[in-house]
Amino acid sequence: MVKTEIPGPKSRELAARRAAAVPRGVSVATPLAIVHAENALLTDADGNRFIDFAGGIGVHNSGHRHPSVIAAVKAELDHLTHLAFAVASYDAYVTLAERLNAITPGTHAKRTLLVNSGAEAIENAVKIARYATGRPAVVAFEHAFHGRTNLGMALTSKPMPYKKGFGPLAPEIYRAPFPYCYRCSEAKAGGGCCQSAAGYWDRVFAGLADPSQVAAIVMELQAGEGGFIPAPKDAVQAIAAFARANGILLIIDEIQTGFARTGKLFASNHYDLVPDLIVTAKSLAGGLPLAAVTGRSEIMDAPHVGGLGGTYGGNPLAARAAIAVIDLMAKEDLAARSAKVGGLIRGRCCELANRFPRIGDVRGLGAMIAMELVKDRSTKEPDKDLTNRVQAEALKRGLVLLTCGTYGNVLRVLVPVTVEDEILAEGLDVLERSFEAATA
Ligand SMILES: Cc1ncc(COP(=O)(O)O)c(C=O)c1O
Repeated sequence: MVKTEIPGPKSRELAARRAAAVPRGVSVATPLAIVHAENALLTDADGNRFIDFAGGIGVHNSGHRHPSVIAAVKAELDHLTHLAFAVASYDAYVTLAERLNAITPGTHAKRTLLVNSGAEAIENAVKIARYATGRPAVVAFEHAFHGRTNLGMALTSKPMPYKKGFGPLAPEIYRAPFPYCYRCSEAKAGGGCCQSAAGYWDRVFAGLADPSQVAAIVMELQAGEGGFIPAPKDAVQAIAAFARANGILLIIDEIQTGFARTGKLFASNHYDLVPDLIVTAKSLAGGLPLAAVTGRSEIMDAPHVGGLGGTYGGNPLAARAAIAVIDLMAKEDLAARSAKVGGLIRGRCCELANRFPRIGDVRGLGAMIAMELVKDRSTKEPDKDLTNRVQAEALKRGLVLLTCGTYGNVLRVLVPVTVEDEILAEGLDVLERSFEAATA
């Protein structure tokens, strides 16, 4: 229910203060000042209600302020706010490590390191992989996003806005092609992804990096910021087989895909994949800042004592929130809910694609669904302007919607999977009205 023009006076006032106090480099997708959030709804300072298809950029798979997350954090507040795991041990960190070791793919012995952000977790995964293998090089993919720290941006593909002007970048990063089927013209004899063809990865590495010097391949199974591009299963299995054959560790970045976003607890579950190291963050702790690296014990235990850590990593409040999230994922079967919600979103997006020829592709696993907009379905020329117009029309009508993609032409849905059916239907109706307005 939008009561004022968007942005209203109070949002405008905070935006002006923000511009005067915060560097412009910190971008913002909407001009809103939000004062309250509940499951999939946001309220702004002017009393407007919004349906949240951004979900804190993939942080709120279990909804804003889930009661059991709030209760867990409140209970811990009476005991510890911060201690530093390098000073003494506390139960929340160890319990969460045990839980992550148990629920991540693979039945082998594991260890978990807790840190504060996705980028920090990726940095640590690479540090650990280099130490364990004694090799310097790391292979990442086109369309990848792995964070904004020095190593994170070196692993990230897109120069603007993530890398331009911020060099020199970390060395020994090599970029491989990502299986982006919608924009691929290769055909494989007998069907399937061209990247699963016999010898494909040997040929790629012949021109890329000496496999014996590569510590790890870092991969998102569905590229997130790069355009919500799910990798085909046969391609992922071929990459994994190549890595295994060459002693290269597979680091799977599940920061955006993890915790029931894709219709399974982890995207790796879709691929029957057991990563050597799996990196999680975002929806792990239901809104509190926390990230994790979970991996094979012998790899995780390679670095010397004192080589890993950080002041805040595994903060007790954030760790308690994450334990509550893991409990409710099982209790409320949020993976099944994600598959159902994803089916509804996909169905509506396919209907929209039948009406609007500038929707070139509808794709994604579970409730991680996107539409790629093009000027013409035959040329597939990206339509960033239309993407931005649909986003703006949605906001006017009370729907917060994010874009993504290397070419800025993808609308993505990251609505909490706990969204009520009627709120989801209302949001998808608004999406349709927004397409009508933007293409009129
Ligand atoms: C796949 C992926 N990796 C890494 C990151 C970086 O995480 P953070 O912003 O917590 O540093 C993100 C954030 O969007 C992400 O989507």
